[in-house]
Amino acid sequence: MILVTGGAGFIGSNFVLDWLAGSQEAVLNLDKLTYAGNRANLAALQGDARHVFVQGDVGDSALVGRLLAEHQPRAIVHFAAESHVDRSIHGAGDFIDTNIVGTFRLLEAARAYWGGLPEKEKADFRFLHVSTDEVYGSLAPGAPAFTEQHVYEPNSPYSASKAASDHLVRAWHHTHGLPVLTTNCSNNYGPYHFPEKLIPLMITNALAGKPLPVYGDGMQVRDWLYVGDHCSAIRRVLEAGRPGQTYNVGGWNEQPNIEIVHTICTLLDEMRPREGGPSYRTQIAHVKDRPGHDRRYAIDARKIERELGWRPAETFETGIRKTVQWYLNHPDWVAQVQSGAYRDWVATQYGAAAGA
Ligand code: NAD
Ligand code: DAU
Repeated sequence: MILVTGGAGFIGSNFVLDWLAGSQEAVLNLDKLTYAGNRANLAALQGDARHVFVQGDVGDSALVGRLLAEHQPRAIVHFAAESHVDRSIHGAGDFIDTNIVGTFRLLEAARAYWGGLPEKEKADFRFLHVSTDEVYGSLAPGAPAFTEQHVYEPNSPYSASKAASDHLVRAWHHTHGLPVLTTNCSNNYGPYHFPEKLIPLMITNALAGKPLPVYGDGMQVRDWLYVGDHCSAIRRVLEAGRPGQTYNVGGWNEQPNIEIVHTICTLLDEMRPREGGPSYRTQIAHVKDRPGHDRRYAIDARKIERELGWRPAETFETGIRKTVQWYLNHPDWVAQVQSGAYRDWVATQYGAAAGA
């Protein structure tokens, strides 16, 4: 089997669902179930013996050591993290604890387990670390997209914590020989995306008749990738990536935020028009910018295409349509995640009126 950490979050749950749809190999899913973790994402796996869920912390060395000894996974795919930049600005403690210390403890537990494996299993073992393009910092307009050689220049507490974890993973390979792989991916979107992030926030706020809060001028550029394509890239890297290497993953789809918001409004105008009202665009509200806001990210994904033959299957047009449709089809999931804790966050970030 494989051990997946953070498999109840947005990308992790998509990964587990896709994995078990295409393979008989079991998944041990270790997730702390923070505000971002949601067992409802995995409801389709209820009663499926191939999925073993354990609620726990990647930083709990005793627990992780026990799980590795008991289940003997052939690989670890490490998604678990605090992932929201705005939350890292309000308070970075959890980001340091999970992204840095948690990754360190997981690496140590993996090293101890791996060191005791027979030669063949030892050679085949992989530790795949799921990271982000944000570690590279911000690009000037027209500058070439991030390659794997780009200097690390993290600007937010979140990206600094992810950069630190990338360095730990690299060092555990260089010093200890642990067979690691790192992926640095651009912005994902798709089903089960927690509505604190731009795309699901815009869809759910639009449908609720709330303002669509665009930070600053809305001209910050992100490179969007459908989550299923990120999952296929991770599967491919796990299968054929060279230990010690890093692979950038992206969708060749750079767009300013305001364009993304306009696209969502246009799709909702078509798929769920406001009753007798004007376009959802009238709900757009420019608000105070994010402190230290990175202006542009763009991924050069030629290495993973050249070496491993991976390319995204979805275009942004097909992926965003599917995503809007998924949110329209899952009002119960949206209502469930917009719990008391979610309303507290919205009030903290956007003001008390927005949290009501
Ligand atoms: P998410 O916030 O939706 O999910 C994170 C999951 O990790 C949750 O289920 C949470 O309960 C779990 N978790 C948090 N702390 C934990 C701990 N200490 N022990 C065990 N589980 C813990 O995040 P996501 O958007 O799915 O991102 C997953 C990974 O992918 C992260 O490492 C993130 O940095 C990376 N990434 C995300 C994106 C993106 O656009 N969302 C892009 C590139 C890379
Ligand atoms: O690039 C990969 C990263 O993408 C991941 O590592 C992170 O885990 C993930 O959260 C995401 O980070 P971003 O900060 O780019 O995503 P977010 O959805 O928070 O914001 C996307 C853009 O939209 C960003 O420029 C900020 C802007 N934004 C966001 C929110 C929540 C707004 O304008 N208004 C908002 O309310």
